[in-house]
Parts: sequence; structure tokens; C-alpha cells
Amino acid sequence: SLVPTAPSTASNIIRKKLMGYVGFANLPNQVHRKSVRKGFQFTCMVVGESGLGKSTLVNTLFNTTLYPPKEPLPPSAERPKTVAIESIGADIEENGVRLHLTVVDTPGFGDFVNNDDSWKPIVENIESRFDSYLEQENRVNRTKIVDNRVHACLYFIQPTGHSLKQIDIEFMRRLHTKVNLIPIIAKADTLTDEEVADFKQRILADIAHHDIHIFQAPSYENEDEETMTEAEEIASKIPFAVVGSDTIVNTPDGRQVRGRAYPWGVVEVDNEDHCDFVKLRQMLVRTYMEELREYTNDWLYENWRTQKLLSMGVAQDSSVFKEINPAARLQEERILHEAKLAKMEAEMKMVFQQKVQEKESKLKQSEEELYARHKEMKDALEKQRAELEDKKRRIESGRPLTPEKASTGRKKGFLRT
Ligand code: GTP
Repeated sequence: SLVPTAPSTASNIIRKKLMGYVGFANLPNQVHRKSVRKGFQFTCMVVGESGLGKSTLVNTLFNTTLYPPKEPLPPSAERPKTVAIESIGADIEENGVRLHLTVVDTPGFGDFVNNDDSWKPIVENIESRFDSYLEQENRVNRTKIVDNRVHACLYFIQPTGHSLKQIDIEFMRRLHTKVNLIPIIAKADTLTDEEVADFKQRILADIAHHDIHIFQAPSYENEDEETMTEAEEIASKIPFAVVGSDTIVNTPDGRQVRGRAYPWGVVEVDNEDHCDFVKLRQMLVRTYMEELREYTNDWLYENWRTQKLLSMGVAQDSSVFKEINPAARLQEERILHEAKLAKMEAEMKMVFQQKVQEKESKLKQSEEELYARHKEMKDALEKQRAELEDKKRRIESGRPLTPEKASTGRKKGFLRT
């Protein structure tokens, strides 16, 4: 029931029109069902100076209190700081889709006199997650791989309004080859709209100048207009200027919103006119979560894995390769066999040549012997002829012959008749 239509000019694919329902249009639904059943794993890391609102933003982002709410402290007491890398996991569900979310909180840096190596434990943490994934991949049974790799790293930038600090550049340069970097301007409510716009420009210029690779929204070609506009809108907001809050406040017009209340008004987290929080969440969760996971797996992890294996001296060993590749083994056997045949042929040729040479020299020798015999006989005959000539002359001149000579002469006379 396949009716061929005009072949596609772009490629050699012949498009066929179906006359009946086959059912593969249901494939996306199958994938969807399976993914929903399996659930998703996503790990997000937050990096930035202490007190920039990391915990607050993560709570805001996933609409849940991943971090236990901080107890109100007496004004004199010091706020507890994150002193070690902490990982908090939560299973969250939305419309039946399960997401196992892990947030990796890193201790705020910049608090020490010497901040030179503060990036080290963070990079080590990212790498140890790659290590654990590689180890799981190499297990005999690898059906249940837990993906704890960091899929996105929210890098919090202090809202100074100037440009990136040296320490930010250092951090980003250390991180950008190992993780999807998403720069964020923290506590954007402390800057005016104009300051935010200027600051964004300066940050982007700094990032470009130092060749730092931040996560880029993929360019969707041939997609519907809505998707393309969404991608463009997200890209235009990077670095996202965000405001975090996990408390509900009342707006002057009587609405209840997540936001921060100030004497002069309310900053609404979910209001796109107030900050880029909505766009950040859209990028991270709604639009590019799969893209972030894919990029982590296909590029960042793959790159790291190759380098790791090479540094361990695991090259593409040809002997190992042959063992698992019968075609390569057959090829090698064929080459060996051909070499053996060629050797045998060369040996036979040599023996043949030797024999020919021997025969030739023997022939030459007998030829020479024959020639010598022939010469000998010729010489003897020549001598005999000379004697006979001599006798003839004597007979003709009337000189008597010796008895021996007479007999010869008789013979000669007999011969003459
Ligand atoms: P550590 O736990 O030390 O790593 O700090 P953190 O970066 O997690 O910051 P945290 O979320 O604890 O917030 C620090 C303070 O900043 C709190 O008093 C928050 O209420 C406040 N804060 C959080 N987000 C914002 C924001 O967007 N704007 C403003 N103005 N304050 C914020």
C-alpha cells in the first residue's frame, strides 16, 4: 500500500506516502511514556561567594525547600556558612513526571585571605562525579547507572555593577571545560535596570575576552516560530539577573506573590519585568534540561573520559582491538598467509635458477670439450692431407717412394682410378 511520490531533490530519500495507518507516529509517545516511568536525574551545582543567595534561589527555582529554611538568627549571631561541598537530593513530581533533583552547594569563596585555590575542591568534585560514572560504565552489569554528573553550574556573580572580578574569571576558566556554565547576576534587586543592562554587557565582554565558554542555547533551525522566539528570548537574557525569595509577600494591589518586600514596593520573583528569574527557570527546566544533560554527556564527559583514559595509557591497542574484531584478525591472517606464499615462491625461484645455472655450465663445458676434440681431429686430418700432398708432389716429380710411401702411392693410384 505504498505509493511512491516525487523523489526528494535534496537527498536520495524517496518519500513514500502511506495509504494506511502503520503506527510509528506513536514512537514519540512511547519514548515519552518510558521516560516518565523512568523519571529524570538532574544535578545542578551552585557556585559563588557566600551570601549571594544561592540557597534561596535554588529553593525558588524548584519551588521546594531543598535547603531547610534558615532559622531567624539574633542580629548579633553570625549566619552559618557553607563550609564543605554539600549535596542535597529531592524527588519532585509535576503532572506525574518524576525528577530526581540534586543540588550541589559549594562553600562560598572569597572569604579567605588567600583565595587562589578555592576552585580546586569544586573542580575535584565535578571530576569525581565523572569518575563514578566511568566506573559504573565499566562494570559488568551497567543497566542501572546513576547519573550524578553535574549538568549545570549556576555561577553567581556579585552585583557590583563593575565587571567580572579576577576570581570569577579564574573560577570560570577552571570550570568551563567540565560543566555547563550558566552565569547569574545575584541579588539583581540591588541594581537599577540600567545598571543591570550595563553590567550584563561588561560581563559578556569579559567572558568573550577570556575565551570562557558558557552554555549557549542551541540554535533551532526549521523549528516553529514559537520555539525560535523562546530560544532567542532566553539567549538575550544571559547572564540572567535574578532575585530569589522563598517567602510569599503581599503586593500593594493585594496579590500574594513570591518576592521581596521593600519600603518602596515589592520585587516579584516571577514577574519578568522585575527580573530574569522566569527565563532562567525556563531555560534550566522547561526548555534546555535535556540539552544540558546531553551536552554534559556527549561533550564534557566524553572529552574528560578520553583524556582520562589516554593519561592512564589506554590507547586504542591494536592487539586488544583484534581480539574483539574478527574482521581485523582475518585480515591479519590473510597478510601472514600471503607473506608465507611469497617466501616460498622466492625460494623456488632461487632453486630453479641454481639448477639452470648448473645445467648451463655443464653444457658449456661439454661444448668446449667437443670443440677441442673437433679441433684435434681437424688438426690430425690437416696433417694427413699435408703428407699426402707431399707424396703426390714426389710421385709427380718421379722420385721413388719409400716402401711405406709406395703402398700409400698404390693406395693413391687405386684411389685415382
Ligand atoms: P551560603 O549559605 O553562605 O553559601 O549563602 P547563600 O549564597 O546560600 O545565600 P543565602 O541564600 O543564604 O542568602 C543570603 C542572604 O541573602 C539571605 O538573607 C537572603 O534572604 C538574601 N537574599 C537571597 N536572595 C536575595 C536576593 O535576590 N536579593 C536580595 N536583596 N537578598 C537576597
